[in-house]
Amino acid sequence: MPSPSAINRFYNSSNLIPCVFPLFRVVFLLLSLSSAASSTHISGGPQDDLFPEILRDEAVARLYELGKVSDGDGFLERTFLSPASIRAGNLIRTWMEDAGLTTWVDGLGNVHGRVEPPHASNKALLIGSHLDTVVDAGMFDGALGIICAISALKVLNMTGRSTNLQHPVEVIAFSDEEGVRFQSTFLGSAAIAGVLPNSTLHVSDKSGLTVQNVLKHNSIDTSEENLSQIKYDPDSVLGYIEVHIEQGPVLESVGVPLAVVKGIAGQTRLKVRVRGSQGHAGTVPMSMRRDPMTAAAELIVLLESLCKRPHDFISSDGQCNAFSLDSLVCTVGQIDTWPSASNVIPGQVSFTIDIRSMDDMGREAIIYELSNQMHRICDGRLVSCFLERKHDADAVSCDGGLNSQLKSAAYAALKRMTGEDIGDVPVLMSGAGHDAMAMSRLTKVGMLFVRCRGGISHSPEEYVLEDDVWTAGLAIQAFLDTNL
Ligand SMILES: *[C@@H]1O[C@H](CO)[C@@H](O)[C@H](O)[C@H]1NC(C)=O
Ligand SMILES: *[C@@H]1O[C@H](CO)[C@@H](O)[C@H](O)[C@H]1NC(C)=O
Ligand SMILES: *[C@@H]1O[C@H](CO)[C@@H](O)[C@H](O)[C@H]1NC(C)=O
Repeated sequence: MPSPSAINRFYNSSNLIPCVFPLFRVVFLLLSLSSAASSTHISGGPQDDLFPEILRDEAVARLYELGKVSDGDGFLERTFLSPASIRAGNLIRTWMEDAGLTTWVDGLGNVHGRVEPPHASNKALLIGSHLDTVVDAGMFDGALGIICAISALKVLNMTGRSTNLQHPVEVIAFSDEEGVRFQSTFLGSAAIAGVLPNSTLHVSDKSGLTVQNVLKHNSIDTSEENLSQIKYDPDSVLGYIEVHIEQGPVLESVGVPLAVVKGIAGQTRLKVRVRGSQGHAGTVPMSMRRDPMTAAAELIVLLESLCKRPHDFISSDGQCNAFSLDSLVCTVGQIDTWPSASNVIPGQVSFTIDIRSMDDMGREAIIYELSNQMHRICDGRLVSCFLERKHDADAVSCDGGLNSQLKSAAYAALKRMTGEDIGDVPVLMSGAGHDAMAMSRLTKVGMLFVRCRGGISHSPEEYVLEDDVWTAGLAIQAFLDTNL
């Protein structure tokens, strides 16, 4: 019998992020009260067992074990097909085999584990996440989804339920999502979805090795001629689901361990260059300056206003209601100035803009407005401004059917953990990219988010409660039990 567990408890109060959504705060309070009132499990036969020794204890131990598999000394780093990535892939394979899965590695280094039930159809459910990391990473990003999926399948194997599945289930640990080594994200999932361009094989890393070289060094012989063989036939796939840490603070603020993901935001990256007149900080009067630094400052504040109150800017043409810009976020993360000296009025300032939104038309409208306003400001200040588009990706909507199944599964898992009706499972948007984005080019996708402490990710501070790891495993198990 598992010990009672209150999933909606607070973290150390020092880690609590101030709540930005007053409505959520109310929900949070209600949830806290309801879980405090009673925290007993409903427990019965084997169907009702919650398998804490596999879904929590072993899964958590594996997260820590995988978190130590690193190319860095004293920090976590696993980039595409690095020595640590190969070791991590081998470790994941042993866990897959322990769960009764048949394993292999494909032509882009993705690790697969599959259960083929005796009376299954030919359409497989794919469950995945990535085994690579950023530099100085946390141990839950990517790994959590892979390990929870393996644990859930292990429970089905041990209880004999995997033979009753109507569909094959395949867990995929993708070789590259973060894109650290080749500056190109989703190498693994894009190859499986069949959207990885041939040219990617010839992109080089810092040491001059190409993707193809790196594969070859690991005895994987992939060329332009057979890159397309890695692609899955859409007819052989039922759908793709992914469990991932939220990497943001919302679930913590509402006090719920799991959320369903409505979709993944589209994104544009821009580079803005502002040119003025370089000069002596002591001799050029204020009225005679053409200073690109102050112009850049005004542009950055303009961007903030535009993204905080988009409808103040793009409502005049009567189209405002067509855009849903609630999810709009804009960031200036990098500024470069030339010549960058304290006693020189700069000659040029450039900065990056990252714009994300679930609404692709809305994102375009914001960029159009930004460009208009920018030229007005730059003309007024007698500096020249150039806007360059560096990257565009459209938003991805998760499948409505998969989402409602995932929602029921998350609901069931939360209820089994608390013995309480927890109300609605939150629905969130993902501002970060995930393998599900690439997989959406192959099949319908669905995602669950798992609460992480302080919303912190891409940092060794990343942390997920042990009980939340357990809840995530239970949710996958509930999804498989109910829908396959
Ligand atoms: C569980 O996995 C083992 C291999 O580890 C396999 O031999 C066995 O048939 C599986 N059981 C079920 C019910 O799938
Ligand atoms: C590609 O072709 C090579 C050489 O024939 C072969 O060794 C390799 O397994 C193939 N890779 C894929 C992904 O089919
Ligand atoms: C990739 O290269 C192969 C071999 O040259 C070719 O058959 C295939 O059409 C190419 N794929 C694309 C998308 O260009």
